[in-house]
Amino acid sequence: SLPVPNVQQLASSSEGVPVRYIRPELELERVSNDEYDRIPLIDMSKLNDVRDDGDDDEAAKLHSACKDWGFFQVINHGVAEEVILKMKADIQEFFGRPLEEKMEYAQLPNGIEGYGQAFVVSEEQKLDWGDMLYINAQPINRRNMRLWPSSPSSIRASLDQYSIELEKVARSLMTSMAKNLGVEPEKLLDLFKEGVQTVRMNYYPPCEQASKVIGIAPHSDGSGLTLLNQVNEVQGLQIKKDGKWVPVDPIPGAFIVNVGDIIEIMSNGVYKSIEHRALVNHKKERLSIAAFHDPNVDAMIGPLPNLLIKDPKKQAPNYKSISHQDFKKLGRKMKLDGKNKGL
Ligand code: SIN
Ligand code: FE2
Repeated sequence: SLPVPNVQQLASSSEGVPVRYIRPELELERVSNDEYDRIPLIDMSKLNDVRDDGDDDEAAKLHSACKDWGFFQVINHGVAEEVILKMKADIQEFFGRPLEEKMEYAQLPNGIEGYGQAFVVSEEQKLDWGDMLYINAQPINRRNMRLWPSSPSSIRASLDQYSIELEKVARSLMTSMAKNLGVEPEKLLDLFKEGVQTVRMNYYPPCEQASKVIGIAPHSDGSGLTLLNQVNEVQGLQIKKDGKWVPVDPIPGAFIVNVGDIIEIMSNGVYKSIEHRALVNHKKERLSIAAFHDPNVDAMIGPLPNLLIKDPKKQAPNYKSISHQDFKKLGRKMKLDGKNKGL
């Protein structure tokens, strides 16, 4: 990977926006302002109520959300509000600290973990208008405490709590998703036992040319399931739906959930990992926290065998089965031009 400037520092200088951040094509793209283009909303407290008539409403909504949208919001997810608020406050404080202090946790050469930027592989590649703190959260033996900030003093505890609570939400959603796919929940959950969880905290400084830059370029997540938390009131997430960009309007206290490439593969393509991007604001900073839930390091990544047996229309696997390690190697190569097409 090649060195990339710190965007927060760039934004506070008077030099203007360097050409490597400018994407003239952005202003030509179609963005929906249709009020019906809203990602589905799932009430997790209702996911396990089966109605008397045998019709399971909320689970059915979840199933179509995963099939038709790949994105949805969840409310009543069971994570205590104070856990979320503490995490938000601490990460906001961290990004507000002086650069020298944040650089104590800087990414190591060729590593993504720590404080820094998304990596690039060529001098020509456009750059994203954002900095991040990326940490390995689970399993605990993958944590590199050297790259976990220790100030503000509560941030490690906040991250630890947040990580544990979000993993529970992810597992609960996967239980419902497996049932919806006609697979015994354990068949999916076992692959995510001792699962790998990473957390990417994004900081997008305001940009005087906000309509010409991008915070995170279009991509699909290589994860199993992503739980995203918008930290402040500034919006920016957009998803690709029917050829146009649809802005996501987060509900306070909700998580935005998206199906990643791995669950798309495990569902044999029934569920969709959707392309999305993050835009930035002209005047205000924007922050978000993405928690990625991946299978354990020993898991094979491929269509769930039980799914292939159970669904007569889906007898043939649409994806190869490969090791988690091979998937990670492949994922990086495939990510450069957005949505994975290679599998
Ligand atoms: C992403 O993680 O892909 C987008 C995050 C954001 O909304 O800032
Ligand atoms: Fe993403």
